[in-house]
Amino acid sequence: MSGSDGTSQWWRTAVMYQVYPRSFADGNGDGTGDLLGLRARLPYLADLGVDGLWISPWFPSPMADGGYDVSDFRGIHPMFGTLDDADAVLKEARDLGLRIIIDLVPNHTSDQHPWFVAALESDPGSPERARYFFRDGRGSDGSEPPNNWISAFGGPAWSRVTDADGRPGQWYLHLFAPEQADLDWTNTSVLEDFDDVLRFWFDRGVDGLRIDAAPAMAKRGGLPDADYGGVLQFRTVDWDGNPHWDVDEVHDIFRRWRAIADSYDGDRAFVAEAIVNTPERLVRYVRPDEMHTAFNFPYLKGPWEAESLRRIIDATLASFDPVGVSSTWVLTSHDETRPVTRYGRATTSSFFVADGQGEESDLALGTRRARAAALLMLALPGGAYIYQGEELGLPKVDDLPDEVLQDPMFLRSGGVMRGRDGCRVPMPWSGSAPPFGFSPRGVQTWLPQPESWSELTVEAESADEGSMLSLYRSALRLRRTTKGLYAAGLAWRESPSGVLDFDRGTALRCVVNLGPEPVEVPAADVVLCSAPVVGGLLPVDAAAWLLLPSR
Ligand code: NOJ
Repeated sequence: MSGSDGTSQWWRTAVMYQVYPRSFADGNGDGTGDLLGLRARLPYLADLGVDGLWISPWFPSPMADGGYDVSDFRGIHPMFGTLDDADAVLKEARDLGLRIIIDLVPNHTSDQHPWFVAALESDPGSPERARYFFRDGRGSDGSEPPNNWISAFGGPAWSRVTDADGRPGQWYLHLFAPEQADLDWTNTSVLEDFDDVLRFWFDRGVDGLRIDAAPAMAKRGGLPDADYGGVLQFRTVDWDGNPHWDVDEVHDIFRRWRAIADSYDGDRAFVAEAIVNTPERLVRYVRPDEMHTAFNFPYLKGPWEAESLRRIIDATLASFDPVGVSSTWVLTSHDETRPVTRYGRATTSSFFVADGQGEESDLALGTRRARAAALLMLALPGGAYIYQGEELGLPKVDDLPDEVLQDPMFLRSGGVMRGRDGCRVPMPWSGSAPPFGFSPRGVQTWLPQPESWSELTVEAESADEGSMLSLYRSALRLRRTTKGLYAAGLAWRESPSGVLDFDRGTALRCVVNLGPEPVEVPAADVVLCSAPVVGGLLPVDAAAWLLLPSR
């Protein structure tokens, strides 16, 4: 699709595949994914039929939060390779027709970033400390945190530093782990340095940037206490007027960045990771002079329930369509419980990562629903995101031993929350036993893979027409080749309770059965289904794509 300004505006309809580099493919045989491995698997992604990749952070990082604690925004983690390897990924992806978005983590730096190291070595009130939020503590001896803010990973959002003389010093703010110190975005040297970071990656040819934790980047002046309404849990929604989330001044930063993106060839895009209170608040992030698109968290987090899904779809379209911004649809990520696990539980909605902890999952049921959910997501108008392994129907690995868990959420909650590692287990590519082609035989992967994944490898699923992988491949191919699909809006048909039934213009009809009984569909028109349509009946927890008879 061509935009009015002559650009392709590829992000309006693209299906992007999220690569978590540590767990995608190991090219150098050390048990950890890397860019050599990613390069070797690019043809797999082109063949899958996605339009591009979103690569989770690949920068140098002490890995206190899986790479979201960056110590150099212009480099590549040696564990993943070099800048030359990154250039090769960009070039080879481009040759295969794949776009690349990388993950910028601007709200915070690692505590090992030279800026933070310099801040610790400098005095209170120094320009080095002014890049972050260093404050004196409350109470006569400063032993109380400067305010009541809490961290997303549990506990207070402040840690106290020890001065050179060994005495307790100031406190610094970290809305995530203590190893992730929040930057003060009112500081000119922070702003100017990041302008340069954007140019550094745009110059290398990235097509866009995903902006991590976008609503966290501005804080209300004076850092007043937050009113958490008695619930000391990082919720990101239901937080009206929160002084450290979705503060209005955050938009000044994105306006500045948009001008930089626009100074390039016009085809560079920002994607907001913005979980905010209402669709109206979210739309502010994608105003014409801010970001280009945003992840759809209400959709990701919604339950497997027809009325609720329909409400979320309608609310999404109602807020994005009028401002001319394309919607996105997403089921999961490196932060979320995998769909086959979530949809197999009694609670099918998701609440950050602590959802469903300890709850049994019926994986056969979850897989049936995840197949249907894939067809629903890929039939909706706009862009979509697929997280690596989703196309294989991988479950969350719920029984990783405690000693391998690395998520700060697990560590900071004293093990109460098991965290996200179970969704980050290395991809199974081939063979019948771990490491399943992820690493050379005999190598232990950084998180252990379950023996039971032998039927979920790319190799096994490629040979099985009924596999999740075959379903994703077929859906992506049809999505690309169905004429008129991208431009068509969505029109609901009347349907029994529990059934979602809509047309995309005259291009495609999608029926999803979340009700208690099979529903009738015109079998002759079915071009793709998540479960066999027998005798004209679409089973429970199944979806079908139909070509409209008028075509
Ligand atoms: C969102 C990222 O997706 C998540 O993995 C990370 O822990 C936080 N932002 C903090 O950067």
